[in-house]
Amino acid sequence: MSDTVKYLLGEADIPTHWYNLVADLPIPLPPPLHPGTGQPIGPDDLAPLFPMALIMQEVSAEREIEIPDQVRDIYKQWRPTPLFRARRLEAALDTPAKIYYKYEGVSPAGSHKPNTAVAQAYYNKQEGVKRLVTETGAGQWGSALAIAGAMFDLQVDVYMVKISFQQKPYRRALMESFGARCVASPSDETASGRAILEQNPDSAGSLGIAISEAVEMATQRDDTKYALCSVLNHVLMHQTIVGQEAIQQLDMAGDFPDVVVGCTGGGSNFAGIAFPFLGAKLRGGRDLRIVAVEPAACPSLTRGRLAYDFGDTGHLTPLVKMHTLGSTFVPPGFHAGGLRYHGMAPLVSHVLDCGLIEAVAYHQTECFAAGIQFARAEGIIPAPEANHAVKGAIDEALRCKQEGKSETILFNLCGHGHFDMQAYTDYFAGNLVDETYDESELAMALAGLPSVAAE
Ligand SMILES: Cc1ncc(COP(=O)(O)O)c(C=O)c1O
Repeated sequence: MSDTVKYLLGEADIPTHWYNLVADLPIPLPPPLHPGTGQPIGPDDLAPLFPMALIMQEVSAEREIEIPDQVRDIYKQWRPTPLFRARRLEAALDTPAKIYYKYEGVSPAGSHKPNTAVAQAYYNKQEGVKRLVTETGAGQWGSALAIAGAMFDLQVDVYMVKISFQQKPYRRALMESFGARCVASPSDETASGRAILEQNPDSAGSLGIAISEAVEMATQRDDTKYALCSVLNHVLMHQTIVGQEAIQQLDMAGDFPDVVVGCTGGGSNFAGIAFPFLGAKLRGGRDLRIVAVEPAACPSLTRGRLAYDFGDTGHLTPLVKMHTLGSTFVPPGFHAGGLRYHGMAPLVSHVLDCGLIEAVAYHQTECFAAGIQFARAEGIIPAPEANHAVKGAIDEALRCKQEGKSETILFNLCGHGHFDMQAYTDYFAGNLVDETYDESELAMALAGLPSVAAE
């Protein structure tokens, strides 16, 4: 057993329930507010956007929510995902630390995103929805929803952040192969897109802008709903199967992490790997450190303010209390497209505020360097987003080396980079710039935060 590299589970080991961290929080999560009244919103306020089953999950305080059989059956197409012991990376780093990574890149979209895409498509189909509209940053989420839409016979329209649309033409082709329609955002199809283009015809787009376009389109037709890639409680909860499987697999290895590391854009990948461990700790289980890694060019957790803000640039969403850089902030066009979001999931923001997790920010070139080192040792090219977690894990392993400690490090390799080779080409050509987000820009975006009495 000592040389085992992959820890594999059988289909019967796929979790039967999603885990809801809300049930174990020491301090309750502040509620979403109606932007007009400043009062907490109710399920009916969300009904134009989401099917009621997902809204009930969003507001649920139940610790576990059963995964429908049809969703579990589709999960079997790629789940359980493998847990690797990174023996070759450990040797390359010459560290006494043990490094494990859960690999979500084996999914049909190449990332963790289908875990929630399939669930969201299922509940929409159950409630008679015909069309789903969404945004995508890196293209991973749009691909995941396109695949889920094909499985449930739903039309899928995807507003893809323009810079990613240009950087990744094959992501668009993948979405179209599954029957989805993919539009560069900002587009002239929506009032919010046209407003942005009027101000800045060359706008690179952002997740905040693409969300506005998708929300606007979803509210215009009765047979259409909106699907969100991250941020909301139910989306984070769907990802917890990742951490639950990792717990079983580490158990097979006779190990338990001292540190769990995940990259975070909207928060769903991070929550997926971390929340099952955090929940166990909150219920009296073993202590551990949990580290969220974000891009220095879009540092909502490390430099943003915890405040009520809109989830989108066009101010069509409810207000949620989250770490935010301001909804008007348009991040520079760096290559980890899935991490270019002005806010952070309320749940992730809340657990940082409660002191239950740590956060760190890295520049893109150091993340690409870490990703290359990982790829050359382990044989997998990570998605640029995942490189942030790789960098976080390598730094923890090097700390262990310096301190002479044999700690166990777990991170989520949330996606492969096979559609991101232009980013690697740019990195090798020395064309990647580390954007610094200066204080005046930050102050300007934060000055536009909505004033909310409940704060
Ligand atoms: C591979 C990958 N990792 C991470 C993310 C970030 O999103 P989240 O923080 O919701 O996991 C994305 C988003 O598109 C992604 O594609």
